[in-house]
Amino acid sequence: MRCNDPNAPLPSTITPEPVYRRRRQVLKLLGLGATALAAGCGSEAAPPAPAAPVANIPGKPLTAASRVDDAGGEAKTTFQDATHYNNFYEFGTGKGDPAANSGRFVAHPWSVEIAGLAGKTGRFTLEDILKDQTLEERIYRMRCVEAWSMVIPWIGFPLGDLLKRFKPLASAKYVVFTTVERPAQMPGQADRVLDWPYREGLRMDEAMHPLTLLAVGMYGRELPNQNGAPLRLVVPWKYGFKGIKSIVRIEFVESMPRTTWNHMAADEYGFYANVNPAVDHPRWSQKTERRIAGSGFNLFGNRIATLPFNGYAEQVAHLYAGMDLRKNF
Ligand code: MTE
Repeated sequence: MRCNDPNAPLPSTITPEPVYRRRRQVLKLLGLGATALAAGCGSEAAPPAPAAPVANIPGKPLTAASRVDDAGGEAKTTFQDATHYNNFYEFGTGKGDPAANSGRFVAHPWSVEIAGLAGKTGRFTLEDILKDQTLEERIYRMRCVEAWSMVIPWIGFPLGDLLKRFKPLASAKYVVFTTVERPAQMPGQADRVLDWPYREGLRMDEAMHPLTLLAVGMYGRELPNQNGAPLRLVVPWKYGFKGIKSIVRIEFVESMPRTTWNHMAADEYGFYANVNPAVDHPRWSQKTERRIAGSGFNLFGNRIATLPFNGYAEQVAHLYAGMDLRKNF
């Protein structure tokens, strides 16, 4: 199906045809259906529709799939830019490598192992994971530690809603996420640029925060491989590297876990990684960012001021009350 925007890619040109067809089935399963596909053009001319009709009942909470713009109406990044300027080192370290090298990645079937300090653990299929979740569209800013940023409409559900189902024990203080390790499908894993598998973590209260999302889609369609299919983390007030992709394991643990970038260079990438213009990266300033957004090919972007907690301070600053954010960066 072709969008109104003649420059928008055909979904079938992004992924091999069989994978694309299977995705349509998965979309059906996700309840996104043909409307979501038709609307998923990501161009400014044709904004994507919510995953399902929004329940516009005055005075009642939106219990059905809903759309929330948590980016203050700022111009969205185009689907083309958000899917062709990526960091996913499992497919190579160049910004175009994930799109170019992820065509053979098989995201379905998928399962996630739930482990550690919880009442319920085990292996769950993606269908199990999604069964009781209401999908929402959330438009968030994403600020990479490299000082570029985007505005992306995600489709997902609050991570906390899922975690509660596994009944974490009181001793569970952190959650650790692990990306799949599949060198045959992820050519970047042949290089030891990172200590595979990629791992990230959150403090329990961060994981349970309502802004923290597990995404299964973006721009009204299923997540492309290069963006972390079929399941990735989105934590909008933290640097993008916390947003671990293609998650196969979630573990509840007692102590602060070892995470990939923090382990690689602890002086450059903190565990917390809250967006903070007051704390520079040792090799560059974090005061401003290059916003990749608006229509057309815009990878040079506009330079704008970076906001504390990426503009989400009102919602999340209290999580860090009393902490020295220069030490706990
Ligand atoms: N997850 C895995 N498994 N591997 C990665 O290399 N890169 C991170 C994060 N998640 C990465 C990852 C970084 S540095 C960023 S900025 C975001 O993914 C980029 O997400 P995007 O490519 O969807 O914009």
